[in-house]
Amino acid sequence: MRITVNVDGTRYTDEVEPRMSLVHYLRERLGKTGTVIGCDTSNCGACTVHLDGHSVKSCSVLAVQADGCEVTTIEGLARDGQMHPVQQAFHDNHALQCGFCTPGMIMQAIDLLADDPDPDENAVRHGLEGNLCRCTGYQNIVRAVRDAAQKMAPGAGPAAEQ
Ligand code: FES
Repeated sequence: MRITVNVDGTRYTDEVEPRMSLVHYLRERLGKTGTVIGCDTSNCGACTVHLDGHSVKSCSVLAVQADGCEVTTIEGLARDGQMHPVQQAFHDNHALQCGFCTPGMIMQAIDLLADDPDPDENAVRHGLEGNLCRCTGYQNIVRAVRDAAQKMAPGAGPAAEQ
């Protein structure tokens, strides 16, 4: 089937098998290997991307379902050489160890902050419960998301504009 998708600001038209998942399309056709596959069964959240502005587990979405949509991956977040404030907060708060879950965590955290710009610790933990990390114990991830929320708050400076 023919699909047209806008991924990280670039328009792509491709023929895909109807059974191809979005994560396989992103990685194998577009070379967007920043989006990773942990379980391939919608359990771990490593493959999280934004589809029309909302987070989805791209292993559980077919590429044909993204036809006509905007997809943002971890590779589409930085602007003019500047990391997105959530990326920066993960860096600043040492919110990763092996880093495998990090792309999905960041994409999910951005969606969480769009819905709740000032989440308390429980809200962050609840918002990220579909994203598994096996290294950090989540403490610094929660800290990073709350740090990003403060830096993205209106009037907090340049980061607030992203
Ligand atoms: Fe998609 Fe685990 S790879 S949720």
